[in-house]
Amino acid sequence: MNIRDEFIKFFEKNGHKQIPSSPIVPENDPTVLFNTAGMQPLVPYLMGEEHPYGRRLCDYQKCVRLTDLDEIGDKTHHTFFEMLGNWSLGDYFKKEAIGYSFEFLTKVLNIPLERLAITVFAGDNKIPRDEVAANRWKELGISEDRIAYLGAEDNFWIAGESGPCGGDTEIFYFRSDDDIPEKFDPSDDRWVEIWNNVFMEFYKDENGNITELKQKNVDTGMGLERIVAVLEGVDDNYKSSIWSDIIKRLEKISGLSYEGNEKSMRIIADHIRTSVFIAADPAGIKPSNTDQGYILRRLIRRYIRQARKLGLLMESDFDEQIALMVIEKYEKYYSELFDNKQVVLDVLSSEKKKFVKTLEKGLREFEKLVDMDTKVINKDIAFKLYDTYGFPIELTLEEADDRGMKVDLDGFYEKFREHQEKSRTASKGKFKGGLSGNSEVETKYHTATHLLNAALKKVIGPEVHQLGSNITPERLRFDFPCDHKMTDEEKKQTEELVNKWIEEDLPVEKLEMSKEKAIQSGAECTFIDRYPDVVTVYKIDDISMELCGGPHVSHTGELGHFKIKKEEASSAGVRRIKAILE
Ligand code: SER
Repeated sequence: MNIRDEFIKFFEKNGHKQIPSSPIVPENDPTVLFNTAGMQPLVPYLMGEEHPYGRRLCDYQKCVRLTDLDEIGDKTHHTFFEMLGNWSLGDYFKKEAIGYSFEFLTKVLNIPLERLAITVFAGDNKIPRDEVAANRWKELGISEDRIAYLGAEDNFWIAGESGPCGGDTEIFYFRSDDDIPEKFDPSDDRWVEIWNNVFMEFYKDENGNITELKQKNVDTGMGLERIVAVLEGVDDNYKSSIWSDIIKRLEKISGLSYEGNEKSMRIIADHIRTSVFIAADPAGIKPSNTDQGYILRRLIRRYIRQARKLGLLMESDFDEQIALMVIEKYEKYYSELFDNKQVVLDVLSSEKKKFVKTLEKGLREFEKLVDMDTKVINKDIAFKLYDTYGFPIELTLEEADDRGMKVDLDGFYEKFREHQEKSRTASKGKFKGGLSGNSEVETKYHTATHLLNAALKKVIGPEVHQLGSNITPERLRFDFPCDHKMTDEEKKQTEELVNKWIEEDLPVEKLEMSKEKAIQSGAECTFIDRYPDVVTVYKIDDISMELCGGPHVSHTGELGHFKIKKEEASSAGVRRIKAILE
């Protein structure tokens, strides 16, 4: 049975219109890097805007969730997944929604009633316990013992911190050959959640205030990978029909069996699939050190490392073989995979080439520098590998681990910070010898550089980022990717934007956060691997966010008037701007 098709057919029969899956990279929402749930592209309509397809919708939506990146490699997590969903935009509510879920599970998928259990929202001091949902489940035949009432941590759903939200009811399936207990215990992990019905009737603002939405909506989501695994009776998603052919191919290419190599094979399969979907997205993402491009780079580099672990040859086409399998499997549902097949293959192979070069050089140095009899790689060696040879610290850790060694990680980060501090002081010292002898000017140019970067992203395109920067007391210099000489109009627009932001006297905030969080929230960073786990981010209102050591002015109004003095080629595909503050 094709669950995806059955799902759409069932909801169409019940008056829903199928909407196409939105791109993985959200089109109008700069606050998230990827769509993480089926409802995300529907936010304006959940808030009350009229949807062109009506008030009953269904779809399968491509999603990327990176919150559990480190858990990839276990049986159930994926970075990319598909979510089946049905929505009521101010149309039906709890009774019908629960009825549809129940009917689809028990009549279409033929899941026996005794394998199901339910959680409903227990309520809190603002919202009452959801008796309507509980009663509806009972009416359909679910016993009181199979209903658990849980608090907001479990049964109140919101994407992120603010937005449309509401209490939910979740459906669980008993995935085990053991006798099914009469009483449902949600902490017993033989019960797995398969479907979530959210009753979106509230809006939570940034200050945490909850108000009622204009309309009462239903937002449901069922992860395709999970329901397929459940119905096929496997407890490892990668053994389901979604993955089994890919895993088989990996076994064939490597000559190894899945048993004993599960983690590496799962990571390779999962990360190649996600990379294919990101690279094929109409947003045209390429591996880079910022935003979605950074995630793509990280995924590619991570599966390459796992492939090396399995002994796969880097010059082999293992990645292309798997990517082609993914494309073939999904192109009938997602036509961009078909349209952008060559782009995807080129992205994967060129990033592999780049990374393999870094790896080879780093590994040679690793062998030279590390005494093979040592138990702990000291901080000086770890830092030298990283700083001089560009060998990411994660790789030093992995190489050490393979050889039964440890790495003095605390020492490494200590050296890292010392080094950052030193180069900052050095650049200040150099500056003191400069013409004006006044470091305030340099500080202003630092902030102006962030504004210029943000303006160029708007005028030239989101692919702009800093490739090089140099500041003297007289001017700033900024290199960025761009395939053409900037027109006078583009230069004028860039100047105008920067000057507008200066006039608005925007606050410049200094924030500290984990590197992961900084990247997730879209902070720009030139050399991501060169930063420690906790980073400083400078945020200028909502127009710019960059990882940066500073220093910066506290308000853009301090900068004066910004003027581009020169725009020229720096190297192939790279333009250079020199600009001043008057
Ligand atoms: N938005 C809810 C979820 O992601 C239901 O689709 O679980």
